Amino acid sequence: MPMASETLTIIDNRTGKQYEIPIKNGAIKATDLFQIKISEDEGIVSYDPGFMNTASCQSKITYIDGDKGILRYRGYPIEQIAEKATFLETAYLILNGELPTRAQLDDFSHHVTFHSIIHENIKKLIDGFHHDAHPMGVLVSTVGALSTFYPNAKKIFDAQNRREQTYRLVGKMPTLAAFAYRHSLGLPYSYPDNDLSYTGNFLNMLFKMTELKYKPNPVLERALDILFILHADHEQNCSTNAMRGIGSSQPDPYSSVAGAAAALYGPLHGGANEAVLRMLMEIGAKNKVPEFIEKVKGGSGRLMGFGHRVYKNYDPRARIIKQIADQVFDVMGKNPLLEIALELERIALNDDYFIKRKLYPNVDFYSGLIYQSMGLPMDMFPVLFAIPRTVGWVAQWEEMLIDPDQKLARPKQIYLGAPARDFVEMSKRN
Ligand code: ACO
Repeated sequence: MPMASETLTIIDNRTGKQYEIPIKNGAIKATDLFQIKISEDEGIVSYDPGFMNTASCQSKITYIDGDKGILRYRGYPIEQIAEKATFLETAYLILNGELPTRAQLDDFSHHVTFHSIIHENIKKLIDGFHHDAHPMGVLVSTVGALSTFYPNAKKIFDAQNRREQTYRLVGKMPTLAAFAYRHSLGLPYSYPDNDLSYTGNFLNMLFKMTELKYKPNPVLERALDILFILHADHEQNCSTNAMRGIGSSQPDPYSSVAGAAAALYGPLHGGANEAVLRMLMEIGAKNKVPEFIEKVKGGSGRLMGFGHRVYKNYDPRARIIKQIADQVFDVMGKNPLLEIALELERIALNDDYFIKRKLYPNVDFYSGLIYQSMGLPMDMFPVLFAIPRTVGWVAQWEEMLIDPDQKLARPKQIYLGAPARDFVEMSKRN
């Protein structure tokens, strides 16, 4: 019965009426529910806080099968990309849909590198922050401020213009991030070095001291490159949803990226790796792990770096990150918190509470340990996430802009407040 698989039959028990709702790509249109009336001019809506079962768009960028632990960019498995590609090659793939030829990659890298310098006035803006300003706050502010430096970026329906802003965003995010870091230490800013790779240059802007030419450690450079690849996109996560939501009112992309970065800041999203380290420090020793796990099971706090809205299996990125961690520790020395992390993982993966709820380590469980071993403070962790995710945000934003199905993002609500009533004068209130 081919028809049966193409529609969903809904029988309204209140009226006995029957509705055939078309199914396309495994989805029904929420607006098709409108014909099922709850009053003369109101139709049924779907109620879905946190978008647990609501697709807000159709996308061709990233595929995730959370139950099987699969992540693919443009069809390519993350494991293969992380092994064989560079971050800029991955960025090109995510933004353009296909892997670049050598000439295309060279051209793309040239444009990104060309746009890595920031206007000197942005430096003055950074100077205005307190020395202990959280670098994520600095990043959110400065990337938003870029919109005032490139007023032309408002022409979002001009493809060439969008491309130019994309180069700028991908090129300038590491510079803004590194300058925020240097400001927090009171160090002079280290300018981009275009001879270096994307991540090599980022390390240069973070760590260069008095040497004339900074030489990144190749193991750390590659480790950071892989971490950036793993964080480049993750379909409709909280910050990408913010990017699309803000972008739907059609501001310039810098303003939308500032909003997306703000969404990434929270501990349930990009702030999780910082929260993991704080948790590991709070536990303090391997033998305190069982006690901590019991506390989590008793409802006091969460095991940070565990669980994921989509992955109900081992996060494939966590597997790759664990291997990188070993390489970084070989260069920088073992992070003393690693032993606590491994013990937490071992106990949690064998504990019924976590097994039943399908809670596995996510991408952030080990990334914080790596960043800390590289000498980066915890405050910088969400910033390190925002740099590569900018690629995903921009790709998703552009896909949204050219999708004729998309509209101003404006969800419905179910009003449960007071019914209409007359205003009460101040003198009559008690
Ligand atoms: N530790 C302990 N229990 C947990 C955890 C955790 N980390 N995560 C979920 N649970 C429990 C909940 O208490 C709940 O139990 P219950 O059914 O007995 O009430 C059940 O598992 C389901 O939890 P939800 O909150 O409904 O799951 P949701 O999919 O909404 O949450 C989230 C996903 C927010 C990531 C959650 O797992 C969490 O808070 N994890 C810790 C923070 C973290 O690591 N975030 C990073 C995510 S990855 C990223 O953003 C890059």
